[in-house]
This record gives sequence, C-alpha cells and structure tokens, in this order.
Amino acid sequence: MKLPFFTKKQAEVSVFYPNDTIPEHIAIIMDGNGRWAKQRGMPRAAGHKEGVSTVVKIVKTAVKCKVKVLTLYTFSTENWKRPKPEIEFILRLPKDFLSIYLPDLIANNVRIEAVGDIGKLPAHTREAIEDAMERTRSNDGLLLNFALNYGSRDEILNAMKEMFLDINKGEFSLEELDEQKFSNYLYTAGMKEPDLLIRTGGEIRLSNFLLWQLAYTEFWFTDVLWPDFSEKEFLQALEEFCKRKRRYGGL
Ligand code: FPP
Repeated sequence: MKLPFFTKKQAEVSVFYPNDTIPEHIAIIMDGNGRWAKQRGMPRAAGHKEGVSTVVKIVKTAVKCKVKVLTLYTFSTENWKRPKPEIEFILRLPKDFLSIYLPDLIANNVRIEAVGDIGKLPAHTREAIEDAMERTRSNDGLLLNFALNYGSRDEILNAMKEMFLDINKGEFSLEELDEQKFSNYLYTAGMKEPDLLIRTGGEIRLSNFLLWQLAYTEFWFTDVLWPDFSEKEFLQALEEFCKRKRRYGGL
C-alpha cells in the first residue's frame, strides 16, 4: 500500500527553523526494526517493512525543513552475517520503495545517491538505485543518500588503496597529501560532512558508520525504535542541534 507522500504544494509549507540553523547534512542509523517486530510477535521482516514507512515520513519532513543531505544507513557490510532470507528482504526494499515513491521524489526535486560498495549488491537492488540516481541527477533539492553495503573501515581501506595507486602513478606526492585530498577518495567525496547524527533504537555506538566523516558531527541518540520514530522526534533532534555550540576544537 502506498502511504501518502506529499504534493508539491505541501512540500512548500513553511519551514520550522531558519535555514541557517538547520543541520545541512543529517545521517541516521535506523536501528530497532527487529525489536519492534519482536515486541508485536511479528517476523523481523515486518519491522523492516514498517521501517520503510518511517523513511517516507522522515524524507518528507527533511524536504519541508530544507535539509540538504539525508544519509540513511540501510545495509552495512556487517549485515551480510544475518540469515539469508532477512538479507534478501532488506535488499528488496530499495527497489520496492523506489518503484512506489520515485515519481513523488522527482516531483519534489529530490536527488538519489548511494554510498557503499554497491557493485556487490544483487543486480535488482543496484539497478533500482542506479536508475534512480540517473533519473534524479539534475535535481538540486534534498540529496537522499542511501548507505548500502557500506562499512567505514572498508571505505577507508579502499580509499587508501586507490590513493596509493595514484601516488605511485605520480599524480601527487605523499608530502602533498592532506585531509581534503584523502576525503576525495571516500564514497562521500564532494559531500558536506554530516552536521548531525541520529541513532534510534537505544544503542550508543557508531557501528562502522562514517567514521572519518563524523569527526566533528553532533550526536543525538534516542531509545525510540526506528519504526516508531516520527516527525516529532526528528524535530526534537533538530531543536537540540540548534542549541549546541560547535567549536571544532577552538574556543
Ligand atoms: C537495523 O535494525 C536496521 C536495518 C539493518 C535495516 C534498515 C532498513 C530500513 C529501515 C528500511 C530501508 C528503507 C528503504 C527505503 C530502503 P535491526 O534489524 O538491527 O533492529 P534490531 O536491533 O531491533 O534487531
């Protein structure tokens, strides 16, 4: 069943905060789907399915608030350790979601991107994401960034390998290497680093997510399980972010 997304008119509804205080890039660890389902005596897949409904609501709110980038930790390099049917279920969700919502996303100027080793995903997952990336390439509203087969250590190791190949080719020297140059080898090259990280589901850890990129990010954790997470908690996180003083190591 298609949930109500939003019309162009609704998306233009007034913004809740002045643009300058809104976190430009919000990254979310969407945790708690399994426990949500277990509490209801349902299979874990039911929690993931409900998790997609939360994605729809939060994307809608992010568009309204004029967030620039929303990165969602959808499938990690560690998630391959789960039972095969659960893996298959999760990896079908991007295609299911896009087959329903891509027209709404396009109408609302959303651009789709992915970070992670997407080449190793099943063809149907990869093709759905690549097709959405292609069809939304020229949109300049919210960048909806799916972290798929993403692992931060894997990303950093791959970046190092590629960078050393370029150094060996003489493209630049080791002395010229700086943070900016290195970050251009990450999946997030060219993307602003997250201003705010949200993790639902009560765990207080990063689980191999954006370790380099989160160096100066503000963190906000909640016990609320992802399927129960709503606009209310999202706005609470934004409000908390607005109160934080970011000094980046300075005074
Ligand atoms: C972690 O919760 C969640 C995941 C590994 C899957 C996340 C995927 C979604 C929320 C849906 C993705 C949506 C789209 C549109 C592609 P868990 O299963 O580890 O929960 P638990 O800690 O309670 O077991």
